[in-house]
Amino acid sequence: MIAVAIDGPAGAGKSTIAKAASASLGYIYIDTGALYRAVALSCIKNNVNTTDAKAVEKLLPDIDIRLIFFNGSQRILLDDNDVTDEIRAENVSMAASAVSAIPSVREFLLELQRSFARNDNVIMDGRDIGTVVLPNADVKIFLTASPEKRAKRRVLQLEESGMPADFDKVLFDIVQRDYNDTHRKTAPLKAAEDSVTVDTTDMTLEQSVEAIISIIKEKTI
Ligand code: DC
Repeated sequence: MIAVAIDGPAGAGKSTIAKAASASLGYIYIDTGALYRAVALSCIKNNVNTTDAKAVEKLLPDIDIRLIFFNGSQRILLDDNDVTDEIRAENVSMAASAVSAIPSVREFLLELQRSFARNDNVIMDGRDIGTVVLPNADVKIFLTASPEKRAKRRVLQLEESGMPADFDKVLFDIVQRDYNDTHRKTAPLKAAEDSVTVDTTDMTLEQSVEAIISIIKEKTI
């Protein structure tokens, strides 16, 4: 089995690029951020404060998250409801960043994430895939871009899915999430020592996908 880990900050284009590269290579794409988002959404739905680690931990045994693959794309089910679109809202993004700092949440999702890489060739994207989840991944990529460029892309993405978006607010949230994700004690966002960094600030989507595919091919031949 071949495992490709793609880590990097919010909005670097990880999911779009990883999705396109997986389709081209015939690998399964796993978006691990969606798992943290589903935990966050469950907290919101159950009125659990996402900054209260004890309360979140108490809720975990009742959270049922499943990934299914439908027409080649990942759908995420929370308690049997398809929440794939709902988890993209900005309030869920912030809540996901908060719950992802809680060690018991990371522990809860660890085995689930590893199980995906056991039976298939995968491209898995997240924050700690190359460092913690799949430390023996065949290919590790750290994908990044400037905060402004990432905010611009996020605004476009939100607008395309019909959600109102304000650039300054999105940029502020990105900078704040970067801070949370890189400063938390457990599995902070950082490039694995054996990763290849790809900065997509000045790259088109096509160029980024090509760059990722050629790194994967080079490392797995
Ligand atoms: O990639 P994303 O924006 O959907 O991720 C949502 C949050 O989950 C983000 O703030 C960081 C966290 N996350 C994480 O800590 N580890 C992962 N492997 C994936 C996401």
